[in-house]
Amino acid sequence: MDNRSIGVFDSGLGGLTAVKQIMEELPNESIVYFGDTGRVPYGSRSRETIIKYSKSDMNFLLEKDVKLIVVACGTVSSVALPVLNKIVPIPMIGVVEAAAAAAIEATKNNKIGVIGTKGTIKSGAYEKYIASKNPEIKAFRKACPLFVPLVENGHFDTMVAELVVEEYLTEIKESGVDTLILGCTHYPLLKNTIARFMGDAVTLIDAGAEVAKLLKRTLEEKDILAETPNIDQYKYYVSDDIEGFESLGGMFLERTITNKVEKIDIEKY
Ligand code: DGL
Repeated sequence: MDNRSIGVFDSGLGGLTAVKQIMEELPNESIVYFGDTGRVPYGSRSRETIIKYSKSDMNFLLEKDVKLIVVACGTVSSVALPVLNKIVPIPMIGVVEAAAAAAIEATKNNKIGVIGTKGTIKSGAYEKYIASKNPEIKAFRKACPLFVPLVENGHFDTMVAELVVEEYLTEIKESGVDTLILGCTHYPLLKNTIARFMGDAVTLIDAGAEVAKLLKRTLEEKDILAETPNIDQYKYYVSDDIEGFESLGGMFLERTITNKVEKIDIEKY
């Protein structure tokens, strides 16, 4: 048993989609969330910059004495997690392993699609993981850089969203995948539009939901589940102005955020 909080970080507020799943999966756990809203987006940045930024995000959470860190960001999990894992003194898990393992389990025809930011797709992290577990599976990938701004501007189920989904996903659909990994924090909000386009025969894998399940298994295995929530169960930190956090954050979290949000200077870490 360990009542310390779980640290979760993301390049911005999108990681709250994973926090939502963690809250549902593990109601006794307390969470410290850091969203690097001052330096978002990460998805279009170089490997060096993503690693540098995510090291400071990790250092901030370590200072909060968390027991484990969840990397909710698809880009950081793909690009920087292997580097961070070598230096982090506590357990750390990311979305790639969680979502890829679920996709391997789900596919029947051994064709898996992977979508994410440019950084995620360029890293090839999902394909590498899948190939290491089952070389017979073929992965089809596509960067979908417009999905993040679409979601942040409230386009989930609109005609604009439908057009962009069609533009990005036609090739993947034609390749005949039966499983599609939504490898980015923002994509669960486009799930209905993506599902309609891909059709019923395609299983969508929500990376945030899968990392919440992996988190539960990891806490159980290490025997560090919390017995009770802390008084301040959920704490949120950001690196830019906190205005808009309630509305945009609430959209990702799908609940009203009543807790205090603090702005920190991430450059110090
Ligand atoms: N959080 C990022 C991800 O999941 C999306 C936003 C960004 O590009 O920073 O890849």
